[in-house]
Amino acid sequence: MARSILVTGGAGYIGSHTVLELLLGGYKAVVVDKLDNSSEIAIKRVQELAGEHGSNLTFHEIDLRDKPALEKLFASEKFEAVIHVAGLKAVGESVQKPLLYYDNNLICMIVLLEVMAAHGCKKLVFSSSATVYGWPKVVPCTEESPISATNPYGRTKSDSTWKIILLRYFNPVGAHPSGHIGEDPRGIPNNLIPFIQQVAVGRRPALTVYGTDYKTTDGTGVRDYIHVVDLADGHIAALKKLADPSVGCEVYNLGTGKGTSVLEMVAAFEKASGKKIPLVMADRRPGDAEIVYAGTEKAERELNWKAKYGIQEFCIDQWNWASKNPYGYEPQAP
Ligand code: UFG
Repeated sequence: MARSILVTGGAGYIGSHTVLELLLGGYKAVVVDKLDNSSEIAIKRVQELAGEHGSNLTFHEIDLRDKPALEKLFASEKFEAVIHVAGLKAVGESVQKPLLYYDNNLICMIVLLEVMAAHGCKKLVFSSSATVYGWPKVVPCTEESPISATNPYGRTKSDSTWKIILLRYFNPVGAHPSGHIGEDPRGIPNNLIPFIQQVAVGRRPALTVYGTDYKTTDGTGVRDYIHVVDLADGHIAALKKLADPSVGCEVYNLGTGKGTSVLEMVAAFEKASGKKIPLVMADRRPGDAEIVYAGTEKAERELNWKAKYGIQEFCIDQWNWASKNPYGYEPQAP
């Protein structure tokens, strides 16, 4: 019997890639997703990409705040662990609609933990973010770096029977090399790569570069971009680590350890796509840090995981996804 893992948000960008890696790794994946920001088509494509393992994927359209629905699911199946990827994640929107964010992200987590505990499932891999490092005084950011947004969840865990791994994602980019699954943001993309992609396919006229006066080689902001397939693999590594009796609550960075500027990204994407990306230079975006990249030693040492792909690879895979799916999972312009 394959071991069954519950993946919340499994129809989304990170979730779908993680579910595929789980299936290929011989796990059974049960996805819950409320399809607010994701598509059921992603589930079908993951099933196809997983070939003979595709039948090990089941999908339930459930809002995690719906405790009875979640109870029913846990009663019907025993989960070895939960990978909790579901959540709202647009920084700008969260400032405009804080209650929406607290209601969604916190209530989901509380209900999930309650139901897990009630059913004796106490292994969790949780998506955290490099955003907790704020504008770091020192780079690379290690797991010990001071955090300017605290995670109440990690703090409140004092029950040693739980095993929890928090993964601090840096900037996930790219797509599965097949080009069949990838990121499909609703509305105007907040993030650099989805925006560049939409300029490249002709959906938007130009990329606005936020800030050209940072103290970096070319004046633009520097981030640690990580291929989503590497990131998905990092979840499998974390899942394996949960079997280690010494794990209580641990934090790991998932990044490459390399910084890339906005203009370097644009150049790499232009090379991979053969498309010119028109630029509009603008002021800094409020809240943005200058340089953020990961210290990767802890994940390498303890998870035995290391990012394999670099900037050219994820630009090629991003363009493969974009050119095959210019409107994401929609067949044409809405
Ligand atoms: N940028 C532009 N133009 C754009 C979008 C972004 O110039 O249209 C620049 C930003 O100023 C920044 C870089 O591209 O220098 C990356 O910006 P993103 O919005 O893609 O990513 P951020 O690093 O700002 O934030 C993202 C997610 C957060 C997450 C964080 C982790 O939005 O949720 O990565 O580092 F926490």
